[in-house]
Amino acid sequence: MPHRPYVIDQMISAKTIAARIEDLAREIEQAYKGCEKLIVIGLLRGSFVFIADLVREIDMNIEVDFMEATSYGDSMESSREVRILKDLRGKIRGKDVLLVEDIVDTGFTLKHVLALLQTRNPRRLETIALLDKPSRREVDIKATWTGFEIPDEFVVGYGIDFAQRNRNLAYIGKVRFTGEEAE
Ligand code: IMP
Ligand code: MG
Repeated sequence: MPHRPYVIDQMISAKTIAARIEDLAREIEQAYKGCEKLIVIGLLRGSFVFIADLVREIDMNIEVDFMEATSYGDSMESSREVRILKDLRGKIRGKDVLLVEDIVDTGFTLKHVLALLQTRNPRRLETIALLDKPSRREVDIKATWTGFEIPDEFVVGYGIDFAQRNRNLAYIGKVRFTGEEAE
């Protein structure tokens, strides 16, 4: 697929992300204090790097599970229609659960997945998003914990993609177009 050429300007360094995750892990340990086990659910694919770093910072008995939901396809705009492509392997009824998302943008994805998980009656269900773009919100939702609030920029890296590219960057960067669409 032809695409407009772009460069990536660093927005949040790997070091800054790591420091923030240490703080978030302490807050999560405090919030779930006394829980026998925490089920950490990653929303694929964007959260895979974040969840990997986050669970290694949390000093608790942890199980990891994954779900995949989609609202974007390969475009830069949300479709507002959320579909579940992959459901959990495990049951969460009566369990302590933390849902991990990469970015909350319009909020449709988080709201939809949260509502779905609530119907399964977990004991406790909280959410964490690495990034939040509050200025883009279309539905009233906020993650329990947020890594960084960012302006309305399209970002990539640290698990987050632009049409499946740039997930492997160690930092968060913003996409800046440098030319017109190639033929
Ligand atoms: P929402 O349903 O509009 O909140 O969209 C959330 C999902 O859109 C995130 O999990 C990301 O996969 C994707 N998304 C939102 N903003 C960006 C971005 O700046 N870069 C890459 N993906 C994004
Ligand atoms: Mg996503």
